[in-house]
Amino acid sequence: MNFLHFCVALFVAALAIIFGLAFMQPTVLAKFFRQKTYKIILAGPPASGKGTMGEVLVKELNATVIGTGNILRAEAASGSEVGVKIREVMAAGGLVSDDLVIPAVVSQLEARKEGGWILDGFPRSAAQGEAFAKMIKENDFARPSLILLLEVDDEVAVDRISGRRIDPVTDKVYHVKTNPPPTQEIADRCITREDDTEDRVRERLRIYHENTPKWVHAIEAVGGIPVIRVDAAQPVAAVKAAIDAEIRRYDFLTFLSKITNCGSLVKAC
Ligand code: AP5
Repeated sequence: MNFLHFCVALFVAALAIIFGLAFMQPTVLAKFFRQKTYKIILAGPPASGKGTMGEVLVKELNATVIGTGNILRAEAASGSEVGVKIREVMAAGGLVSDDLVIPAVVSQLEARKEGGWILDGFPRSAAQGEAFAKMIKENDFARPSLILLLEVDDEVAVDRISGRRIDPVTDKVYHVKTNPPPTQEIADRCITREDDTEDRVRERLRIYHENTPKWVHAIEAVGGIPVIRVDAAQPVAAVKAAIDAEIRRYDFLTFLSKITNCGSLVKAC
């Protein structure tokens, strides 16, 4: 064995050890591979758990949630002229106009150039996907690390929505069966969302299925942004564990890409 063979063997052995440890001792090594900031598109049909998982992930990923549903609900609640129109569209389960949504998200992203974010509910249409893709190409700060697509069947979504309750004081989301409010006082003040009736949910699901492939295609066309599908029909802890595993894999491939100078590893994620 000459010196070159020896070096290659040593390098491969080192990679194998790191790989092995990463999967055997994920919690120990996870911190080593952790990125400084994460920019995540968290997508999925109504009731797939975007809000629930976003709340859990921000704590760990040093990021803030940019939720278009919440931004639009706040504008609707303000009673402004545009808010009244937004409320009508949301209550019917439709999509609010791209002309209103795109500038709102652009200004949120521009305000968070340095930090991480979890984008819940955007993009949602072909036009939003194309506008975002253009922004990513022109601005490095807007580039998402990855897209997490939470997947649940329509019937699971409808069933979850029927049990969803919101605390108007804290905006916390509960479910009467799987995640009930912790006290009777909170349970008594909880409300249901105006668009959470079965027919509106089915309309939101129809719109979701029609539009998602279009915007995903637009973002994928930018290149280098992995789309990771997660089975979100499992209990919350299992969904969280599945996302953690995917993020660890992403971290590890990003690390390998850096040391081998090979960007395609992350794309293969
Ligand atoms: P938005 O508020 O974003 O609603 P959505 O996408 O329909 O999603 P939901 O909020 O209903 O569900 P979620 O996935 O967050 O699930 P959650 O964690 O709450 O948007 C509302 C409207 O705003 C749109 O219809 C549209 O009109 C407008 N809009 C928003 N963005 C727009 C855009 N970009 N362009 C145009 N219009 C836009 O969970 C649901 C329930 O399930 C809860 O009770 C929870 O406790 C429970 N649950 C969650 N995970 C689990 C689990 N793993 N197991 C069991 N129960 C679970």
